[in-house]
Amino acid sequence: MTDQSSAPAQDAARRDGFASRVGFVLSAAGSAIGLGNIWRFPYMAGEGGGAAFVLVYILFVLLLGFPVMMAEFSIGQATRRGAVQSFEVLAPGTRWSWVGRLGVSAGYAILAFYSAVAGWALGYLEKSVSGAFASPISADASGELFSSFIASPVTSIPAAALIIALSAAVVFKGVGRGIERASFVLMPIFFLLLLGLAVHSLMLPGAGDGLRFLFKPDLSKLTVPIVMSALGQAFFSLSIGMGVMVTYGSYLNRRETGLAPLALSSVAADTGVALLAGLIIFPAIFTAGMKPAGGPGLAFVTLPTIFSTLPMGSLIATAFYALLVIAALTSIVSMIELIAADLVDRKGWTRGRAVLLIAGVGFLLGIPCALSFGGSAFFTRFFGVPDGFFGLLNIAFGNLVMVLGGLFICLFVGWKWGMPQALKVLGIAEGKKLGVLLSFSIRWLCPAAIAAVLIFIVITGKFF
Ligand code: TRP
Repeated sequence: MTDQSSAPAQDAARRDGFASRVGFVLSAAGSAIGLGNIWRFPYMAGEGGGAAFVLVYILFVLLLGFPVMMAEFSIGQATRRGAVQSFEVLAPGTRWSWVGRLGVSAGYAILAFYSAVAGWALGYLEKSVSGAFASPISADASGELFSSFIASPVTSIPAAALIIALSAAVVFKGVGRGIERASFVLMPIFFLLLLGLAVHSLMLPGAGDGLRFLFKPDLSKLTVPIVMSALGQAFFSLSIGMGVMVTYGSYLNRRETGLAPLALSSVAADTGVALLAGLIIFPAIFTAGMKPAGGPGLAFVTLPTIFSTLPMGSLIATAFYALLVIAALTSIVSMIELIAADLVDRKGWTRGRAVLLIAGVGFLLGIPCALSFGGSAFFTRFFGVPDGFFGLLNIAFGNLVMVLGGLFICLFVGWKWGMPQALKVLGIAEGKKLGVLLSFSIRWLCPAAIAAVLIFIVITGKFF
């Protein structure tokens, strides 16, 4: 359909890709659905006062997240190139490719702190299987267990390394044979575990309180930092603003039009899973009479206490941490793919070489993250940033850079490359309702909303 690409034809024919629409959605959703949904969303919602945060988050996902995802797909589909080269192809000789470079750098940073958390999940999976939560543990004991676990580099660093190695092996196999196949196997297991756990939680006595906390907003609780964290979380959770979706879009069959349903399914799956994770966690928290504002330790300190008191607690804990590990794997795969596609397309590297380098750098950067919780005094304090070096990467890249990237992608598609071109690639008529809505959001709404939030941050200085 599209004839916009200046990519050489023989190259496009050789390019690896997704074999089916379902495989594409599962992979895009697999990227989006991750620790962001099960670990980060509940603790941010818990700290942000619950339903007010959730409401703003959902608005951002629909009004900004969906259009930005479409914008990214259109860029990738049009150029069939990685995150940096796509901009070089569409706007040669300009500085727009820095948007891609920013995204790729964020890929390294997120890979680092993300695999640290994934390593915790793996460690906790092992603990659950070996019966550590078989008999009741107090909140204090659980806190101590977690602090000593994450403070100990002997376990946290190898755990993170194992996670990176597993994901790298999938990416090494390629898009169709590695990423798509892994997603086909892992995502259904993931959904089953998730549903089972949610049903279980909703039968707990604290379910009503949990539901009220998540869905009955008290808008007077909203503050600028909470709005910012909801915006950052919306972008983080959808894996947008970094070029991941540009990259995945570039692997779509060129004849594939009608990308709106694909994006919509990915967005719906992602938001649905975040809400379900909330439905798993908050009823359990209220049942145990604990506080929802547990911070990054929420899934690791609060939950084991609760699991340990439930009938079949070990089994439930095992299911939950397996869920976390699976979610993390499919997301880490896409972070590695983002960077690998860039190195392969732009530098002509082999996939194997690219994957090795990325895994190595990710691992090295992951070490200070794993040491940010007591393992090293320097990285733990790290110039006074909350949660140290880890916290810096989590907030600076996980929130700020993703949102900035989203801003630039909107400006690029809306004002430089042009909505007519983007809509043509997406197979959407300009005059149709969807086309008008997308144009309005990408050209005006997203840039204005993101800029407003950023300006507030600069003025108030409330970054963290
Ligand atoms: N969306 C992922 C999650 O919710 C996190 C993420 C952010 C991500 N940026 C990414 C994953 C880039 C892959 C690639 O857990």
